Amino acid sequence: MASFTEKFARNQWYVAAYGREVGRELLARTICGEPIVFYRTEDGRPVALADRCVHRRFPLSQSKLDGDRIVCGYHGFTYDTGGTCVSVPGQKRIPRTARVPSYPVVEQDSFVWVWIGDADRADETTIPRAPWLNQEGWTAVNGMEYLPARYGLLVDNLLDLSHETYLHAGYIGTPEVAETPITTEVDDDASVVHVSRRMSDVECPPFYAESTGIKGRIDRWQDIEYHPPCLYLLHSRVAPTGVAPRADADDSGAFHVEVVYAITPETENSTFDFWAVARDFALDDQGVSDFLWESNRTVVLQDVTALTVLEKVIADEAEGYQELSINIDTGGLAARRLLKRMVEAEAPDRTSALR
Ligand code: FES
Ligand SMILES: [Fe+2]
Repeated sequence: MASFTEKFARNQWYVAAYGREVGRELLARTICGEPIVFYRTEDGRPVALADRCVHRRFPLSQSKLDGDRIVCGYHGFTYDTGGTCVSVPGQKRIPRTARVPSYPVVEQDSFVWVWIGDADRADETTIPRAPWLNQEGWTAVNGMEYLPARYGLLVDNLLDLSHETYLHAGYIGTPEVAETPITTEVDDDASVVHVSRRMSDVECPPFYAESTGIKGRIDRWQDIEYHPPCLYLLHSRVAPTGVAPRADADDSGAFHVEVVYAITPETENSTFDFWAVARDFALDDQGVSDFLWESNRTVVLQDVTALTVLEKVIADEAEGYQELSINIDTGGLAARRLLKRMVEAEAPDRTSALR
């Protein structure tokens, strides 16, 4: 399937978990094919180590914490937070090679980000931001669904929201989403894809009607910002028809929803689909939070079902199948191009790693 990115770029930041998932229990999660164990030190710092004991490969995630150290559950090799073995059974001398890889981790915007590539190149200032997820003035709900399909399918899905009309009718889809043309812009230097769809005087789907309380028709903006490989932002603006931002940029007459996805490959054929919905209205209304959580989860599961089918179709098809792309696909095609460029830029690293 040359059209899909099956490999992943390693020298990139990926969301591994929500901060709330990482605690004093050992958490096993495979990121881009690397089995990793996550935990939090006693003073609250997240740690990520390779989930395989250097002795006989026992998963460290099935072992025990002793303070900030992991004691292997098989024969007791003990590792510090940097992955160095500090104790082995039956002898004083610890072999020089007794260590497991440790991975740079950063906690930001409610996510735990991990870097599985060359640690010297991990620059946390390059992690894209999603500040609404834990910021004053916003209320967020979130979740994560497991997707048994390659991550490129989810990238395609999110970059082309025309599918809302068909796959998510009755939730976020209305006929106008598929009818309204998009504009696509690619910032090659910053490596960001922008896709915008601005709809005027359109039907309000239940997702927004019930959460905002708007009765009647709306102006609806969908401005996508995709930061490959992992972070996808949908800046959604919903307002009663004719209510525009004021000249001084005040847009308090509108409702704003930031829909955030983190797309993290588990393996070449499976993906963690992290999703969050942040809003700047009804901040303390638990009913609205519950509704948005339930609705968005339903929508995500509709995508998961469709992409699971597609993964199977792709896995079973003969070589050389040709897709047909149209205007709605410009964002997805741009995303594939940037992802491919990222993977190819690492090709020399791969070769040296294999030596
Ligand atoms: S496998 Fe971990 S100590 Fe033996
Ligand atoms: Fe969808």
